[in-house]
Amino acid sequence: MLNFASLALSAPALLMPPVSAECDVDLELQPPLRSLTPASGIKYGCAGGGPTVQHDRVLLDKFATEANIFVPEGALKWAFTEPQPGQFDFSEADSIADFAARHEMLIHGHTLVWYATIPEWVSQLTTAKDATAALERHITTEVQRYRGKIWAWDVVNEPIEPKDHLENGYRNSVWLRCLGINYVDLAFRLARAADPATPLSLNEYGIEYATAECQRKREATLGLLQKLRDLKTPIDCFGLQSHLQAENTFDHRGLTEFIRSVVKLGYRVMITELDVNDWKIPGTVEERDVTVARHAAEYLDIVFSVARPMSIATWGLSDRYTWMRMYFKRTDGSPLRPLPLDLNYRRKRMWSALAGAMAA
Ligand code: XIL
Repeated sequence: MLNFASLALSAPALLMPPVSAECDVDLELQPPLRSLTPASGIKYGCAGGGPTVQHDRVLLDKFATEANIFVPEGALKWAFTEPQPGQFDFSEADSIADFAARHEMLIHGHTLVWYATIPEWVSQLTTAKDATAALERHITTEVQRYRGKIWAWDVVNEPIEPKDHLENGYRNSVWLRCLGINYVDLAFRLARAADPATPLSLNEYGIEYATAECQRKREATLGLLQKLRDLKTPIDCFGLQSHLQAENTFDHRGLTEFIRSVVKLGYRVMITELDVNDWKIPGTVEERDVTVARHAAEYLDIVFSVARPMSIATWGLSDRYTWMRMYFKRTDGSPLRPLPLDLNYRRKRMWSALAGAMAA
C-alpha cells in the first residue's frame, strides 16, 4: 500500500521501495481527487482539450472522475476565440462548457490577456485607442458568455519577464507597447464589469527556485502586484503556474516570503498549471516517478505552509498528453512523466502527492 508518508522528503530517492503492481492497484482503489474537495475546501482541476478536439474518451472520463474544474488548455485563448476582429468562435469552449456542466465541473477561464496565442491582427495593434477597443470587446464578450460557469478567470497571464530588460521587469507584449503597464488594470476592470461575482486572477510562472532568474521574477511580480493594489485594481487572486523542474532546488525562504507577501497584499492563491518536468533526471521509470512525486510534495508543502490554495490544477492529467513533449526531450528517448496519471491513465505517485496535500 503506497501512502503519502512514503514520499517523505528526507528519504533519498534510490532507497524508496520500488513501485509494485500491487501498489498501483491500491492507488486505483483510492477515492478520486475531486471527492477530497468537501473536506479540504480545495478543488482539483486539469487542463486539456474539449470533446470536439480531444477524441480520447478514456481521458475525458478520467477528467470527469478526478476533477471538478476543467481548464481549457487552449480553447479560451484569443487566437481561438476571436481569430478576426469582432468574429468570435466559441465552438471548442462551448463543448467544454457542456462537458463541464454534465459532470458538475466548473471551468477555469484561461486566459483573457496574454502576449502569446494571439491572432495576427492583435499582434499588429499599434495604438492605445485600438488596443483599448480590442480589449473592451474581447473581454466583455468572452466573460459575459461564460458568466456563472467559471471558477476563476486568469485575466492577465505572464505579464513579467525580466529577461526582456524593460522597466520594472515588465514583459514586452503588444499590450505593453500600446498601453504601458496600465493594460493590466484596464483588463481587470473590464472583466469585473462583465462578471462582478467571479474571482479574477493574475497568473505567473518561474518563481520557485534558488536562481537569480527566479529571484528577479519574484521581485518584479511582487512589484506589479503592489502597484495594482495601490491602484485598487479588482484582482482577487494570484495564480502560481507551478511548471516545476525535478532537477532544480527550491528556494524555500524566497518562495515562502513571496507567497507570504502576496497574501499580505490581500490576494488569495491558486496553483494553476502544476506539472513536474523529468527531462533531466536519471533513473528507471519507478525512480523518476518517486523523484517527480517528491518534488511535487515538497512544493505543495511549501505553498501550504503559507496559504491553502483555492484550487490545484495540473497542466494535463495523463502523461500521454503533455505540452512539455513539444519543448523537452529526454536523452534516453523515454516519454516524460510529469503528470498524475501515467501513459495508461493509471495513478502514479504524483497523484498520491496531490491527494496527500489535499487531505492534509
Ligand atoms: C500551452 C499549451 O499547453 C500548448 O498546447 C500551447 O501550444 C501553448 O500553450 N503557460 C500557460 C499555458 O499559461 O497557457 C501554456 O499552455 C503553458 C505555459
